[in-house]
Amino acid sequence: MIDLRSDTVTLPTEEMRAAMAAAEVGDDVYGEDPTVRQLEERAAELLGTEAALFMPSGTMANQTAIACHTRPGQEVIVEAESHIYNVELATLARFSGVQPRVLTGERGMFAAGQIESAIRPDLYYLAPTGLVCLENTHNAAGGRIWPLTAAREILDMAHSRGIPVHLDGARIFNASIATGVTARELVAGFQSVMFCLSKGLGCPVGSVLCGSRPFIVEARRVRKALGGGMRQAGILAAAGLHALEHHVDRLAQDHEHAKLLADGLTSLPGLSVVSPETNIILFRIEKGPDAETLCARLRVRGVLASPAAAGTSTRGVRMVTHLGISRADVERTVDLVREELRASGV
Ligand SMILES: Cc1ncc(COP(=O)(O)O)c(C=O)c1O
Repeated sequence: MIDLRSDTVTLPTEEMRAAMAAAEVGDDVYGEDPTVRQLEERAAELLGTEAALFMPSGTMANQTAIACHTRPGQEVIVEAESHIYNVELATLARFSGVQPRVLTGERGMFAAGQIESAIRPDLYYLAPTGLVCLENTHNAAGGRIWPLTAAREILDMAHSRGIPVHLDGARIFNASIATGVTARELVAGFQSVMFCLSKGLGCPVGSVLCGSRPFIVEARRVRKALGGGMRQAGILAAAGLHALEHHVDRLAQDHEHAKLLADGLTSLPGLSVVSPETNIILFRIEKGPDAETLCARLRVRGVLASPAAAGTSTRGVRMVTHLGISRADVERTVDLVREELRASGV
């Protein structure tokens, strides 16, 4: 199967498995796993934060950050298509007792002025704004990268009002490799950042939450409260260390493959393709089968893709490149889409 549904489908390489098997481990709830500690130190160093915490998932990392930065009864400013707002089961309300204040972005991005008008004035009958969240790269917008200056304007605006900003940087290393700007520079000024090891970096499990030392002390408490205390997690952390060493620079290849795939799809009749900035390709079938039908037909022929924006459109498709996808896979995918469109008379 050529699996283009997500970069979460990556399988650990032989070298990663070897690193995992060789990991020195201990009970991390007692703070005794040396490999976890090493991963946390390496992540903090790469992102330029004081400390970091290994987390079981990106969702738990985002929600832990929200719980740490806010208190019940506050509002959190989020973008309408963000992962935190759309795909995390309203856990900001469930676990932190806060409500989302939703900004409609332009393909995932919004302006500092929008935040300014969304921040609540200091009136006793209004819910205070406790946090702003950004997402870089923006998943639902097709792996879009926040321009550095626009992100800085948001940070400045929020900070001028005393509001912290959390970055959902699930794919921050994709943004870094695509722009040539270091991850450390991309996340400078945020009060917390999470990034995922289990996506383009190719690990089986794990994310890392980064921030100041006091923030991470509190995050460790929240992680435990959410059931995220892990024991001999060094086996997983070893995969993370391996990925940070060997799987970051190679993201450039995923971006090249995404571009090749987008170019191939653009050359076909009946499709509108959003030019990818990183590893996520979104396209719309203007003429031909709907997205469910096309994906079902591709599946039979050995290609997995996802109908995109489920619930709002029946014609959007998403494909994601990753370390399990070769140039030949991309070429085969374009050929199969061409054949399926042709079979539908397009
Ligand atoms: C932008 C973004 N944030 C957070 C997450 C959540 O990560 P996890 O699936 O590890 O909970 C994802 C997962 O796809 C994501 O794309």
